Amino acid sequence: MFDYTEAFSRNIGWVTETEQEVLRSKRIALAGMGGVGAQYLLTLTRLGIGRFNISDFDIYELANFNRQAGATMSHLHHPKVQVMADMALDINPELDLRRFPDGVCTENVNEFLMDVDLYIDTIDFFALDVRRAVFAACAEKRIPAITVAPIGMGAALLAFLPGKMTFEEYFRMEGQPEDEQLLRFLLGLSPARLQMPYVVDDTRVDLSAHKVPSTPMGCELCAGVAATNALKILLNRGDVIAAPRGLHFDAYRNKLKQTWRPWGNHNPIQQLGLKIARRRFSENLARSGAEAKAAPASPLERVLNLARWAPSGDNEQPWRFEIIDHDHVVIHAHDTRDWCVYDLDGSASQRALGMLLETIDIAASGEGLKAVFKRREEHGERAPLVDVTLSQDSESRVSELLPYIKARVTQRRPLSTTPLTTAQKQGLEQSVGKGYRVLWLEGPQQRRAVTRLLFRNAHLRLTMEEAYHVHKQTIEWGVQFSEERIPEPAVGADPATMKIMCWALQSWQRVKMLNRFFAGTWLPRLQMDVLPGFRCAAHFVIYATQPSKHIDQWIAGGRAAQRFWLTATQLGLQFQPEMTPIIFSAYDRDGRQFSTDPRKLRAASVLRTQLDVLIGDDINASAIFMGRLGTGPTPMARSIRKPLQKLRTKGPDSAHAHPTQELT
Ligand SMILES: Cc1cc2nc3c(=O)[nH]c(=O)nc-3n(C[C@H](O)[C@H](O)[C@H](O)COP(=O)(O)O)c2cc1C
Repeated sequence: MFDYTEAFSRNIGWVTETEQEVLRSKRIALAGMGGVGAQYLLTLTRLGIGRFNISDFDIYELANFNRQAGATMSHLHHPKVQVMADMALDINPELDLRRFPDGVCTENVNEFLMDVDLYIDTIDFFALDVRRAVFAACAEKRIPAITVAPIGMGAALLAFLPGKMTFEEYFRMEGQPEDEQLLRFLLGLSPARLQMPYVVDDTRVDLSAHKVPSTPMGCELCAGVAATNALKILLNRGDVIAAPRGLHFDAYRNKLKQTWRPWGNHNPIQQLGLKIARRRFSENLARSGAEAKAAPASPLERVLNLARWAPSGDNEQPWRFEIIDHDHVVIHAHDTRDWCVYDLDGSASQRALGMLLETIDIAASGEGLKAVFKRREEHGERAPLVDVTLSQDSESRVSELLPYIKARVTQRRPLSTTPLTTAQKQGLEQSVGKGYRVLWLEGPQQRRAVTRLLFRNAHLRLTMEEAYHVHKQTIEWGVQFSEERIPEPAVGADPATMKIMCWALQSWQRVKMLNRFFAGTWLPRLQMDVLPGFRCAAHFVIYATQPSKHIDQWIAGGRAAQRFWLTATQLGLQFQPEMTPIIFSAYDRDGRQFSTDPRKLRAASVLRTQLDVLIGDDINASAIFMGRLGTGPTPMARSIRKPLQKLRTKGPDSAHAHPTQELT
């Protein structure tokens, strides 16, 4: 049998029995049963609030699952108001609940606020007109009103109390277009902007499509802050922070900040923030418009859209897709041997092409399809053509590597030295398949030996004019994500070193001068080779049981390496290729003149001898891929990819003459 006094007796001690009865008699209005609204209703019900007015016209969808209390499989497509009312009544069957299943609008605001002691804002972020109308009505009726915004992994409180600054006086939205109102609302809610340093992908803030990212933690922190302030207001406990003051707590940053913005959004600091936000907003708007236009429609397009996340040296993406019909695409690949010293005879591009094919195969499994690849031999090796045919897979087995295609990433920073487990090593060794083996270089002694090798290797790379031309165009400066290159923070050196590198890479003369007079290679080598070289669980070499000499062998090797990389991702390991030692070894083994400077040729020879000693000359000669592994943080900055639209081509002529031609 339900008994109110017993059910909420554990609140007593923080509230008196008399206060508990006061809470029981109070009515709170919650407009919206979304991420915060639903959580507030449950928390306030457990606090013993006895009366609610709740509204929402929406039903549950999958996209609500990350944060909304009632969003479960059993409630999918059910009305939110009904589900949440049932959940609250399950906690307190005596609740006096007034439901507004058609939502709140300007017409029913008065009814919605009838008998209400406190209004807590839980309306959809984008429903600004209704929000403003409800806050205005609260001010008129002298109903205290609070809003607590879930911002990232934190909560930002603003309270609008009777007789103090109103919502409109703070946010200043009157007469503004919708986009501007949204910006003002967003910036007004979080003047401290504590969340900014950990935004990993700001493209997900799409105000025009009415989409913003959220976390369950943010919503639950909000519930704690909102219910606490509700208690203080309803019990007259005093000391509620009211606008223009606000409070922002961020659990991720371990920070609490009180803000004070006299004149609200008319405050000069807010005005400056708004100026910056407007610029970002218009950039995001242009990008999201282009993405919406390019959304993949057919299974084949979806496969390619996922497969474009395959890795390639320096994020070059040396391929274009000519879609012939719904199950046939021709890949127009090309290599970069003409200008990239690391692409010996195109073999690095060919390995990357293999990685693309493997990724297509895995992506196809997600559509119940299997892929068959045929390289057109008559087409030569510099610009290979591969026919890809998709057909129904009778076994219809989805690859377990499918979820890791987009998550796979290059981590160039130091990792944990915790050794790999036997199970991890076995999983990785099996992933490469028949015809390939894995050699491990692990333990402090071997890692130190590889680090010495990488230190020497980096000296060669950083002092060679042929490599300078490659490095100059590899990095995209000042961005977190790069479509066609490697973004600056993903390179792995600290910001000061990157500044020096940015300056030096303007000309070969600068690099030479820095190297000669200021030991210019030391700082980057320490950060990008020595520290990561030692700080990892293990280095590895994937090698073929038969040395690779032919394009098809490199392509097959690339497929094996991609399975290995995706398996590492599946195992929660971070990964960085270390390809240049095996490439310089190959140059030396074949007696190839890759530099006009004879000292560089000698240096490559020494490097090869050192690697031969470390892994054996036979393994060095049949090496497909070298790199390092270990647990560690996922990089915040990464190379992304050209959109599918830009990777499509109309045919053989346009493919090569205009490799980045965009189709309309
Ligand atoms: C064949 C090949 C060789 C690569 N060599 C190196 C390398 O020597 N060092 C390195 O840090 N990254 C190397 N990479 C990683 C690429 O730079 C990276 O995959 C690309 O920029 C895309 O970024 P993502 O892997 O983070 O998606 C290589 C990738 C491929 C496919």
